[in-house]
Amino acid sequence: MSSGVVAIKWQNDHLGLLDQRLLPGQELFITCSTSSEVATAITEMVVRGAPAIGVSAAYGVVLAGRSAFNQYNDNWKEGIADALHELANSRPTAVNLFWALDRMKRLIDKLGDTQDPAAALLDEATNIHNEDIEANKLMGKLGAELMAESSDAPFSVITHCNTGSLATGGIGTAYGVIRHGWSHKIIKHVYADDTRPWLQGSRLTAWELQRDGISVTLNADSAAAHIMKQGDVKWVVVGADRITANGDAANKIGTYSLAVLARYHGIKFMVVAPSSTVDMSFISGDLIPIEERTGAEVTSIQGIQLSPDQVNAFNPVFDVTPAELIDAIVTEQGIVLKPTLEKMKALLG
Ligand code: MRU
Repeated sequence: MSSGVVAIKWQNDHLGLLDQRLLPGQELFITCSTSSEVATAITEMVVRGAPAIGVSAAYGVVLAGRSAFNQYNDNWKEGIADALHELANSRPTAVNLFWALDRMKRLIDKLGDTQDPAAALLDEATNIHNEDIEANKLMGKLGAELMAESSDAPFSVITHCNTGSLATGGIGTAYGVIRHGWSHKIIKHVYADDTRPWLQGSRLTAWELQRDGISVTLNADSAAAHIMKQGDVKWVVVGADRITANGDAANKIGTYSLAVLARYHGIKFMVVAPSSTVDMSFISGDLIPIEERTGAEVTSIQGIQLSPDQVNAFNPVFDVTPAELIDAIVTEQGIVLKPTLEKMKALLG
């Protein structure tokens, strides 16, 4: 089941990205013909969501390889270095970006200096994209089945940020669980946090859920405790931008608060993410670089300033939920219940 929303399209010789800054008002694709344009699109959140960033960066490397070969011929591997660096600097928190770039670099190392890399790079980027689509489907089923095992269906869930087709190559991470849970009558209703300050929940998730015909109400982030107290919500289900070896999970700012609230109210907390979001090189979430964006995202909404002139605003856009507040991490490789270092290593190496 899918609304048919596609956010990333490779179109012969360029990358088309649905401009998520304009949703839900306008559905417009922008064209990226260079890797620099892809890097800028990631930084400016034309495309966002950890898996979607990784997939887009992989296609960015295809564009970089093509241009480096045209410009430098046998020296294309040196010529591509700046472009890889620029893509890596586009956003700091989602590890899928670095995972995808590393995978493309491993391929580059294997290719010959005189070989036109375009076809091989496109094959690998397409593999990354297709694997994400498959991982989404598996996680959707695993996560929804786990929910059904532990709570009397049908029930409501709360989600945060946007984890759907806009944020991935496929049906979504947490959103994939919602889709599966809805179509199998496990989930009857979704509370979507509006997700201040960028409003991913309001502008993107509510839009996707409506298109899918899934029952949704939108709420201010600060309404979550009140909603949980009503007793109808059995699970919080969210995605992640980076999960560390001990099971700590970075996700959109406000996720940590939801986890604390869920524990207080006896509600289970599920993190859904492909293994490309798992960073076993970091022992704990304290090491995750947390992106801070301009304070203007807090003081203004879509260019309209709401706060007093020159007030200082703090805008960290991710937080880290400690493993001890997480009941389940669902990946395409399986589920880690109540994550610890040992359990994470056993499943994810
Ligand atoms: O700043 P964003 O919109 O890129 O943040 C996205 C999130 O935090 C998502 O929850 C996360 O990437 C998981 S998406 C499948």
